[in-house]
Amino acid sequence: MTAVLTLDSVTRTYPARAGGPATRALDDVSFAVHEGRSVGIVGESGAGKSTLLRLLLALDHPTSGQVTYRGRPLAGADRALRRQFRRDVQIVFQDPRSSLDPRMRVGKIVAEPLRSLGVPGDRGARVAQVLEWVGLEPDVVGRYPAQFSGGQRQRIAIARALAPAPSVLVADEPVSALDVSVRGQVIELLRGLRATLGLTVVMVSHDLGVVAQVCDETLVLRDGRVVEAGPTAQLLAAPTDDYTRRLLAAVPRLPG
Ligand SMILES: Nc1ncnc2c1ncn2[C@@H]1O[C@H](COP(=O)(O)OP(=O)(O)OP(=O)(O)O)[C@@H](O)[C@H]1O
Ligand SMILES: [Mg+2]
Repeated sequence: MTAVLTLDSVTRTYPARAGGPATRALDDVSFAVHEGRSVGIVGESGAGKSTLLRLLLALDHPTSGQVTYRGRPLAGADRALRRQFRRDVQIVFQDPRSSLDPRMRVGKIVAEPLRSLGVPGDRGARVAQVLEWVGLEPDVVGRYPAQFSGGQRQRIAIARALAPAPSVLVADEPVSALDVSVRGQVIELLRGLRATLGLTVVMVSHDLGVVAQVCDETLVLRDGRVVEAGPTAQLLAAPTDDYTRRLLAAVPRLPG
């Protein structure tokens, strides 16, 4: 199995703020994300989930240890590798209200990564295709984000992420800002896209129930350390750690 992304003994310490102690947000974390698999990162608030995603996206750098992309360290990567990485790994943020520019029409929003990454080909056709994949009509291109519901906006954000044909989709709490009534639909969309496009998915959620529906592997973080990791089904059926059991107990209803 090819590892698309790995964390090798990664520690990330944030320096002390006025008077306070330094924070070890991640402590000796190692894991691999394999091609075509989906990995969920769960843990309580402050566990280090967003820190881990930022490192995976090369938006931040480890204090020690290393992050690799397709077998090569991201630190000191050459231009060609950075370019490949920027196109191949795309992100969907938590809240589409703040992640979509309200002054831009949807067509331009979705085409933006094609433009900034210099992806060749017919942009209009590509935009129409990814909009169809997320269940939106082609005529939405002329409208503004404010004209859509939260769920539809998150679909637009997903379309934008898919536009440059990434193989990896990274999502930080992709449904937690949405109305409960549409969460299921967006989760279903992510599941379907994953299957049809063969995407590799890394998803952060404080909700083990959401992860259970999308991810075949789960990593449980607590205070910056991995307390449990493995196939999601196994972890749900027989959690070995008390902390995981508590996270499970907080899940209102797991899909049967
Ligand atoms: N820029 C920063 N400077 C200092 N400390 C930080 C910074 N970012 C995060 N931290 C601290 O690092 C720890 C992990 O934070 P992180 O945001 O990764 O947690 P999280 O699991 O994403 O939490 P949440 O579920 O609330 O989003 C926390 O103690 C947090 O206060
Ligand atoms: Mg977070």
